[in-house]
Amino acid sequence: MRAPNSSGLFVACAQVNTRFGNEVFPGARDAAACNARGGARKSHLSMLKHGALAIIAGALVMGCGTHRENVATAPVAPSDAGGDSVASVSELGATSETSEATTTTLGGPIAGLDAAELARFAAGRDDFMEVETVDDGIGPVFNEASCATCHDAPVGGTTGRTETRFGRMVGGQFDPLAERGGSLMQDHAIGAVPAGAGTFTFVPEVVPAQATVHAQRVTTPLFGLGLVDAVPDATFLILARLEGLYSPSTRGTPSLVTELRTGATRVGRFGWKAQVPTLHQFSGDAYINEMGVTNPEFPNENCPQGDCAPLAFNPDPGMNNDGSDVDRFADFMTLLGPPKRGNRAFQSEAGEQVFRRIGCANCHTPALVTGFSPVRALSHRVFEPYSDFLLHDMGELGDGIVQNLADGREMRTAPLWGLSARSVYLHDGRAKSVHDAILGHSGQGTAARDRFVGLNPRMQAALLAFLQSL
Ligand code: HEC
Ligand code: HEC
Repeated sequence: MRAPNSSGLFVACAQVNTRFGNEVFPGARDAAACNARGGARKSHLSMLKHGALAIIAGALVMGCGTHRENVATAPVAPSDAGGDSVASVSELGATSETSEATTTTLGGPIAGLDAAELARFAAGRDDFMEVETVDDGIGPVFNEASCATCHDAPVGGTTGRTETRFGRMVGGQFDPLAERGGSLMQDHAIGAVPAGAGTFTFVPEVVPAQATVHAQRVTTPLFGLGLVDAVPDATFLILARLEGLYSPSTRGTPSLVTELRTGATRVGRFGWKAQVPTLHQFSGDAYINEMGVTNPEFPNENCPQGDCAPLAFNPDPGMNNDGSDVDRFADFMTLLGPPKRGNRAFQSEAGEQVFRRIGCANCHTPALVTGFSPVRALSHRVFEPYSDFLLHDMGELGDGIVQNLADGREMRTAPLWGLSARSVYLHDGRAKSVHDAILGHSGQGTAARDRFVGLNPRMQAALLAFLQSL
């Protein structure tokens, strides 16, 4: 597979294991990026804005002398996560000119759009909410008739709707059972259609008897994903490198996938397995796989339960959409603002420090930086997704499905922004509380989970208060 990076500078301060060999990263200053990590490792922006609060909260965490024995009952982070081992926004490309992306209401557009961009947002949102019919091309098998059926509350969010994937293991290899309609199941169908003198009835897919792997995946919210789309591939490669240096035991792996529009190898960042590289591609992918609407990048209908013969009765063969809807969905998601953080209070500031100290932030990277975007509000912005968007080996928490480079145990670090607006957690929604979601971590997440379990109740409460402020 071709390495996506081709020019720029090499981050040279240590040899770490890598799937890319000695990659050359555009944008990385030089080895000084590694050596110049003195004390100031917190995001300089949040340092400026919240400095005083952070210092006081820090004193709380450290126990401020006499109360110290009440505070930290957990072992501190292991040597590989010693101190603050999280990549800072400066290392990821922020300069003193970089400003923070903001938004006003959940479900609204990102702040700072011009009139033409706001019009694109509105038109995209209308299309995203539209309930489509057989005449529009949905089916023959599909999951729902509108993006907003799953991505709602508010529009662009998540209703918690899950969908099913299946496959089987054969001789240690994953078989997505494509000839049986896998790995993604379509649980709706358009029903009876005219066929010659009679009718033919399309029925929903089911998990076939051959499947030994079943996974449920919850609908993810889409707030702020235009910012994630605007992060250069090189940033994720640098981030993986920095994780290898600062916290090797929790180091993530970039998900390398093909961008269909260009044929280029890109860093996937969308979906539970980081299986898709761009919002535009996800739009076309979701249009065919969730709604059964063919479009230029995805011209082939799904064969119901893997059997292509019934497509002879497809009432709407041929290209269902010329790509204009795909563009509009992508517009809406690109311009959809990030979740707004709640007010910072002492307890949540203390909780953020615990979050960093016990190693949560090693994967849930607090802040990232976008590159150039033609949309000014998205260009060179710092934002706070609390994810590195890289794949991690989560052990038994993994969903067993293999997609691209992601094996059955690997999952993308779930972004934690907007967590307070959610009610089910983890990829299959098994956790009904944030506390249970933390306890569900396994594999590379085990050590941080155990350190959480070892915290005294006051520090656990501070950490949970912090997560609720996101
Ligand atoms: C049946 C419910 C359903 C419908 C309808 C649906 N989605 Fe989704 N969406 C999901 C689920 C489930 C996921 C997580 C999928 C995965 O990773 O396997 C998802 C993930 C996404 C993501 C990735 C978000 C992230 O966190 O990286 C995007 C983008 C997206 N959907 C866009 C769309 C668009 C655009 C439409 C309409 C064309 C649509 N979806 C229709 C359920 C749905
Ligand atoms: C090794 C990387 C890693 C570490 C360390 C880690 N997480 Fe996670 N976290 C993940 C991944 C990957 C997921 C998604 C897993 C899944 O659902 O399959 C996740 C999911 C979550 C979720 C659920 C989010 C959602 O959208 O459902 C929460 C909450 C969370 N982590 C909090 C924490 C906290 C708090 C800590 C520290 C105690 C922590 N994580 C440590 C990688 C990590």
